[in-house]
Amino acid sequence: MFGKSALFATASAGLLSISAAQSATNGSVVTSDAPFYGQSPPTYPAPEVRRDGLFAESVAKARALVATMTLEEKVNLTGGVTNPGNGCGGNIPAVPSIGFPGMCLQDGPAGVRGTDFVSGFAAGIHTGASWNRTLAYSRANAMGGEAYRKGVSVALGPPVVGPLGRIAEGGRNWEGFSNDPYLSGALAAESVHGIQDAGVIACTKHFIANEQETNRIATRDGNKSYQSSSTNMDDKTLHELYLWPFADTVHAGTGSVMCSYERFNNSYVCQNSKLINGVLKTELGFEGFVVTDWFAQHSGVDSSLAGLDMTMPSGATYWAGNLTQAVRNGSVPETRIDDQATRILAAWYELGLDSKSSPGVGVGMAPNLLAPHTIVDARDAADAEVILGEAIEGHVLVKNVNNALPLKDPRAIALYGYDAKAPDYNAPSPGLSPWSISLQSTDAASPICGFYGLVASACPPFPINAPNGSIWVGGGSGGNTPTYFYSPFQAFSERAFQDGTQLLWDFENVNTTSTVYGNTEACFIFINAMASEGIDRSGLHDNFSDSLVNNIADQCSNTIVVVHNAGIALVDAYYDHPNVTAIILAQLPGQDSGRALVDIVYGEISPSGKLTYTVAKNESDYGAILSPYRPSAQDAIYPQDDFSEGVYIDYRAFDAQNIEPRFEFGFGLTYTNFTYSNLRISSNSSATLSQYPTDGIIPGGHADLWDVVYNVYADVKNTGEAIAAEIAQLYLGLPGNDQPIRQLRGFDKQWLDVGETVTMGFPLRRRDLSTWSVEAQQWELAPGGTYKVYVGASSRNLPLTGSFTLRGSGNGNGTAGGYWK
Ligand SMILES: *[C@@H]1O[C@H](CO)[C@@H](O)[C@H](O)[C@H]1NC(C)=O
Ligand SMILES: *[C@@H]1O[C@H](CO)[C@@H](O)[C@H](O)[C@H]1NC(C)=O
Ligand SMILES: *[C@@H]1O[C@H](CO)[C@@H](O)[C@H](O)[C@H]1NC(C)=O
Ligand SMILES: *[C@@H]1O[C@H](CO)[C@@H](O)[C@H](O)[C@H]1NC(C)=O
Ligand SMILES: *[C@@H]1O[C@H](CO)[C@@H](O)[C@H](O)[C@H]1NC(C)=O
Ligand SMILES: *[C@@H]1O[C@H](CO)[C@@H](O)[C@H](O)[C@H]1NC(C)=O
Ligand SMILES: *[C@@H]1O[C@H](CO)[C@@H](O)[C@H](O)[C@H]1NC(C)=O
Ligand SMILES: *[C@@H]1O[C@H](CO)[C@@H](O)[C@H](O)[C@H]1NC(C)=O
Ligand SMILES: *[C@@H]1O[C@H](CO)[C@@H](O)[C@H](O)[C@H]1NC(C)=O
Ligand SMILES: *[C@@H]1O[C@H](CO)[C@@H](O)[C@H](O)[C@H]1NC(C)=O
Ligand SMILES: *[C@@H]1O[C@H](CO)[C@@H](O)[C@H](O)[C@H]1NC(C)=O
Ligand SMILES: *[C@@H]1O[C@H](CO)[C@@H](O)[C@H](O)[C@H]1NC(C)=O
Repeated sequence: MFGKSALFATASAGLLSISAAQSATNGSVVTSDAPFYGQSPPTYPAPEVRRDGLFAESVAKARALVATMTLEEKVNLTGGVTNPGNGCGGNIPAVPSIGFPGMCLQDGPAGVRGTDFVSGFAAGIHTGASWNRTLAYSRANAMGGEAYRKGVSVALGPPVVGPLGRIAEGGRNWEGFSNDPYLSGALAAESVHGIQDAGVIACTKHFIANEQETNRIATRDGNKSYQSSSTNMDDKTLHELYLWPFADTVHAGTGSVMCSYERFNNSYVCQNSKLINGVLKTELGFEGFVVTDWFAQHSGVDSSLAGLDMTMPSGATYWAGNLTQAVRNGSVPETRIDDQATRILAAWYELGLDSKSSPGVGVGMAPNLLAPHTIVDARDAADAEVILGEAIEGHVLVKNVNNALPLKDPRAIALYGYDAKAPDYNAPSPGLSPWSISLQSTDAASPICGFYGLVASACPPFPINAPNGSIWVGGGSGGNTPTYFYSPFQAFSERAFQDGTQLLWDFENVNTTSTVYGNTEACFIFINAMASEGIDRSGLHDNFSDSLVNNIADQCSNTIVVVHNAGIALVDAYYDHPNVTAIILAQLPGQDSGRALVDIVYGEISPSGKLTYTVAKNESDYGAILSPYRPSAQDAIYPQDDFSEGVYIDYRAFDAQNIEPRFEFGFGLTYTNFTYSNLRISSNSSATLSQYPTDGIIPGGHADLWDVVYNVYADVKNTGEAIAAEIAQLYLGLPGNDQPIRQLRGFDKQWLDVGETVTMGFPLRRRDLSTWSVEAQQWELAPGGTYKVYVGASSRNLPLTGSFTLRGSGNGNGTAGGYWK
């Protein structure tokens, strides 16, 4: 979402434009979207919420309540209103006659945003690098607790599973866990449980294929109107890549899903009946409600019929009285409004928000932070351990020559670079509402571009670094507003105080020679790579930061580079410098950034994080999906963004094209070494497999997709001299043509004592072995085909290999109806 109220709503696309297959072009300018590749088939009517799902009891209560409500009351539940009494980003009004107190919807994925006395959690990218399901749960549960105490009813992320990270320069990739759908989905499901166990409705966003910021929003330039880009993709790519993590969150019972800004196959996602009625509510059996991203609604009747349940921030733009009227004149059946209201109230009941002991709606969300107000301190001291723990686990050590780290009782160390100290402010910033901790970089870009994502030509390039301080989170609605920020400089100072170390620092004059004090044992150089909602990045490294690093390295034989990166950061400008002994991709650790870093570099704890994306040697290695799609003059009015690479993003693409990355997906060092042995593969003998799933639909899809059908185990031994946690990874090579060489389908993380051997386990569910059959519109097994199994420490360090074949009693030729084991 974003915080300003203006909307350049233009012609309604979706249903109308799909049928308007005339007048495609006029001269060189395309004036209709009809001729393009991607068209979404009409899928009606909107399915009513199931009565036998995870929310069955709550659905029954909601249905009973809805039966007592007037049409106006029901419509009131579906649209946002302005509530000057609180600072919530979105409000649903109270319905006093039924004792419904209203709802507060508030960002965001790294903590409650835009308020005080809350924590600044690590960003998604950082949590992703932990590959720790327990941590993803605890983090979300702590965050959900803070949202609950502030009176937030719906927490707008975590999880963020879209963008997935197709575009390497994508401005919001850092909000999610990984660009691998399996890892993203696993941590997202834990996040849904964590948030909802705290009594807050989780909102999984952004559905779907919201893979870039450029052109995400319809806009007007003079007299011309431009539609949002249409993300066009085939059905297989949709299912195997972008939809996969959404299925995990629906399976986990996410109470809401946010539909995204752009068009998909030429129909705005928030009125795309195929995606909402068809894919989300029928195929995945989603039983919560669909809410728009802020201002992402483009029609009234059409969006309701297409399955949209709630619009934000204002019902008045397309719904409210108009929706009532549309029911009265027969354009929208009242049963659709009943279902919208039922889905919203069912989630509300399910999370216990009807309880008398719930804090008041938005009670801790002061409407104006610049005026004195009652303090609602939402933090829980018990969460301090989780916040520091997540900060530690997301650091990824990617270079460490001759065990440069951990430090060994240094007498003198030096700190350099703009990213070592706290930024100049952590306060409500003028012009951005209300406390958009966008850090300096976003302000330096045009705020208009930042918030509205206008046509690319109107936006200045995004300054890739944030040279006035250390970053702990990215900018825009995924940002956060911590009560304090523990900077690297502060943490090193405290450690120096304890140890009696000589600390030197120079955060400004880093381009002159002879700045390095003669007895310095280690030089830490801090740089960053910033990103924000609303604008894509203009590169994956910057010359200014690279020259800072090289300048220090030229003068200091033990140079340790720390990069706080809101997305992929390339290191090749200094990677081979002989004096660069260690590099830490420190990502976005949240408020305890410095403490976590100092614990790691002093060896209080071994780093254990691993990359959840590929770091290339050169930007060009990402090919056509390095940079966002920018429309040509010809298709500027109906921009067409074809996802022609299919599922081949990130490591799937690097593997397929045999490009050697600098650091592969899944890579990360610890302070010890591990060896892998003893791969075991066994089928779950109780499972009899037909080619296609046969069970009914439960939330998440067919029930049997979730059955564990194979188990893989491997032994891992700590052969070094430090206690550390290892993240063991399982990749599958699925049988069949046009399959990625390897896809992540399992991971396990455990602590290992020096000399200890543990067994890592990888349960494989039916869905993990399936591919999407466009013809059958089903997940399909490949009987008779060989499933290749790879287990190891990263996507390119896979010492254990094996395989299995599905066999069975059926015709065995891959036709539906046979049975295999
Ligand atoms: C095509 O463009 C011309 C000049 O720009 C305009 O006069 C004409 O009305 C347009 N025709 C259509 C069908 O839009
Ligand atoms: C999008 O369009 C492509 C090409 O026509 C089609 O194969 C695919 O099924 C469509 N998907 C959706 C969700 O509309
Ligand atoms: C609908 O909500 C508005 C406040 O936004 C309120 O004024 C109105 O009375 C409500 N209507 C009903 C029927 O509850
Ligand atoms: C927009 O249209 C109006 C009315 O037709 C015209 O006067 C004006 O010059 C146009 N502006 C631009 C930028 O084309
Ligand atoms: C219906 O929509 C129009 C156009 O957006 C708006 O001006 C009007 O106030 C709406 N009517 C009601 C009853 O909400
Ligand atoms: C019914 O009302 C809606 C909302 O005002 C309007 O958009 C639609 O055109 C109306 N339909 C008819 C048939 O009057
Ligand atoms: C750093 O902050 C100062 C003042 O706050 C500002 O003038 C300067 O432009 C900023 N530098 C950068 C590179 O953003
Ligand atoms: C350092 O100086 C060199 C040469 O004058 C220049 O190219 C580079 O941009 C400078 N780097 C920084 C970080 O100021
Ligand atoms: C490495 O650092 C030393 C100073 O300790 C310096 O003399 C040497 O030139 C540096 N090496 C390179 C390749 O810059
Ligand atoms: C890991 O093993 C390599 C080679 O066997 C060795 O050079 C290195 O020092 C070991 N690292 C640690 C941290 O034990
Ligand atoms: C995973 O996270 C939990 C909760 O933060 C933590 O206690 C545990 O040590 C972590 N596990 C590993 C193997 O790092
Ligand atoms: C596969 O088996 C089915 C059922 O026995 C049969 O109808 C079909 O022709 C077979 N297909 C092939 C390619 O052998």
